[in-house]
Amino acid sequence: MMEEQWIIVDELLSEIRIASNPKNKPVTINGHSKDLRCIGIGTDAAVFQYIHLPNYAFKLFADEKQDKIQLEAQVYNKLNGSPYFSTCYAAYDRYLVLSFESGITLYDCLLQGVHIPYQVIEDVEDARKYAKKQNLNPRDIHLKNILLQDGRAKVIDVSEYSKPGDDHRWEHLKKAYLAYYDIIDGKALPFWLMETVQRWYNQRNFSSIDEFMKDVLKLKFFWK
Ligand SMILES: Nc1ncnc2c1ncn2[C@@H]1O[C@H](COP(=O)(O)OP(=O)(O)O)[C@@H](O)[C@H]1O
Ligand SMILES: [Mg+2]
Repeated sequence: MMEEQWIIVDELLSEIRIASNPKNKPVTINGHSKDLRCIGIGTDAAVFQYIHLPNYAFKLFADEKQDKIQLEAQVYNKLNGSPYFSTCYAAYDRYLVLSFESGITLYDCLLQGVHIPYQVIEDVEDARKYAKKQNLNPRDIHLKNILLQDGRAKVIDVSEYSKPGDDHRWEHLKKAYLAYYDIIDGKALPFWLMETVQRWYNQRNFSSIDEFMKDVLKLKFFWK
């Protein structure tokens, strides 16, 4: 049975359809609802806040991605309320009810030139250790899945933790942070640079992250 306070949100969400896009592009939102604010989009879902219940985030999945809802809910269940992650209060057919987490993603930090403290790296390391202890496989940990919250990290999007395999994303990010963050610390990076680096990275034709970063640093010449 649905908690009473969410019934109104359920109705509002029913007016919105999410469609996924090819090539890992972010989802498309169709329709809109008064009093629902989109607070983020990913490749599987769009996340909304109902302005009269601001402590919750409603992660509404694309029709073709709805099989992931129960999987993600099960991961949250195993994470058992750990403060490194958001809390999952409920899972329905089309969406998850999560705790709203304040802060901006590390991706937005780089775009805006907001300083990312080393503490964030340590927090994500601890979050990963904790997830492993709960027999989960923390993966898909990238710039858009980490929030900077009062100088600390909050890891969002745990949907892939029950899948096998290592995508090395976090290992690469951490190495790049330690070796190169000084160069860009406090600088607002242009969007084209962020998108270019992301596209290159997803092509995955580099032998090491240092070699990859050498190519990235060459882009400096195109950037005032
Ligand atoms: N609990 C939350 N609180 C605040 N913002 C969130 C929350 N969960 C997700 N977001 C925002 O929504 C975006 C997409 O959510 P995410 O769970 O990563 O979706 P996907 O599984 O499609 O990648 C995130 O990058 C973030 O900006
Ligand atoms: Mg995501």
